[in-house]
Amino acid sequence: MDTETLARWDHRHLWHPFTQMADWLAEEPLIVAEAEGCTLIDTRGRRYLDGVSSLWCNVHGHRHPTLDAALRAQLEQVAHTTMLGLANRPSIELAHALVALAPVGLTRVFYSDAGATAVEVALRIALQYQQLRGETARTRFASLVEAYHGDTLGAVGVGYSETFHRHLASAVAPAVRLTPPHVFRWERVLSAEAALGAALAEAEQVLAAHAPHLAALIVEPLVQGAAGMWVHPVAYLAALHELAHRHGMLFIADEVATGFGRTGRMFASEHAAITPDLLCLAKGISGGYLPLAATLATEEVFAAFLGPYEEFRAFFHGHTYTGNPLGCAVGLASLDVFRQERTLQALGPKIARLTERLVADVAPLPHVGDIRQQGVMVGIELVADRAARVPYPPAARVGQRVVRAARARGVILRPLGNVIVLMPPLAIAAAEIDRLIDVTREAIREATG
Ligand SMILES: Cc1ncc(COP(=O)(O)O)c(C=O)c1O
Repeated sequence: MDTETLARWDHRHLWHPFTQMADWLAEEPLIVAEAEGCTLIDTRGRRYLDGVSSLWCNVHGHRHPTLDAALRAQLEQVAHTTMLGLANRPSIELAHALVALAPVGLTRVFYSDAGATAVEVALRIALQYQQLRGETARTRFASLVEAYHGDTLGAVGVGYSETFHRHLASAVAPAVRLTPPHVFRWERVLSAEAALGAALAEAEQVLAAHAPHLAALIVEPLVQGAAGMWVHPVAYLAALHELAHRHGMLFIADEVATGFGRTGRMFASEHAAITPDLLCLAKGISGGYLPLAATLATEEVFAAFLGPYEEFRAFFHGHTYTGNPLGCAVGLASLDVFRQERTLQALGPKIARLTERLVADVAPLPHVGDIRQQGVMVGIELVADRAARVPYPPAARVGQRVVRAARARGVILRPLGNVIVLMPPLAIAAAEIDRLIDVTREAIREATG
């Protein structure tokens, strides 16, 4: 099929996610035909650096030989069978490997297919857990301001944003919200220390006040990705974990974005040496190859669901493709590559290079208001006026203009409003980091005049 026909059919039949389709229909789509390593290649043969890991999920690069071989080998066995009433080899082996890797004490793996479903599973386990142990008033959740946990209705309840979800307000259960340190630091112009203190004081007070009604607190550990790469200190994460337990609620770590090395450790929870009661994984779990997700639970949570069948304590939840053998086989291969290529050990110098180049070449640009980085997760906040921290109005579309300028220079980015996100695959090479920064700098310069 030629590019023109594909583009016409795309425009005629497709509805793209998180996309104002009126804008989409006004220009020719970039259609990816193939990829290798950190490079995407379109149907016209043009090459682009995958600067956001194909929406934060690719880990070892595209078409990695080990992952490709694992997928082919599994295809020779079976593509899919159900986990309802049956087991399959790759899902067992991957669960065993995940438990060995995850914070100590997480012993049970419940599979699903997306970040949102991993969160949905965690929320439902938490609710039912509290009911099963007689805490019947604990029917609500706490979460952070501007948290993002996915787009199913339960996940939107804990990640509600007035801008995006006002049409859904009648369908979601609102969560109790905590203001994270970022808001105090950036919007209320406090020092990092004072911001942490203010956020902690608020968390203590709000969680104590609502404790009798809270089933769980859900947090994106260290980095609130979709909020605009809002980073919080390890001390905040550790304190929230402690507060949740002090007040009898479960602590859910949503590591859909931060998991599998993005923050510099395998899981962000490790930085604070905490074991969440429930851990949500997706995106990088399959190396970025296939839709796969998992919710890990402690044995204590799991045990609450045990009993005679007729008591109906079982977790009545599941999806058709849960524990898909192809996804699990490639997930297992991805963990092998982490070991073989010493991916995490190789990451330190890459993170340092990113920091060095950001500080030297991006921070001085006049419209860069703030740069936030944790590992290979980076947010560059663009502002109309740096001294007064005046944001660009949405109509200025500054993020989109930067992305367009980067694309013309062969780098794929995706903004979050006025925040330019860089999140390359862990496999990115030093020369590619340099190119990513060079192009980002030029694109920001062009878009901000
Ligand atoms: C922290 C977090 N949770 C959940 C999700 C939702 O994942 P998915 O798009 O796979 O449903 C995302 C996606 O960006 C995320 O960043």
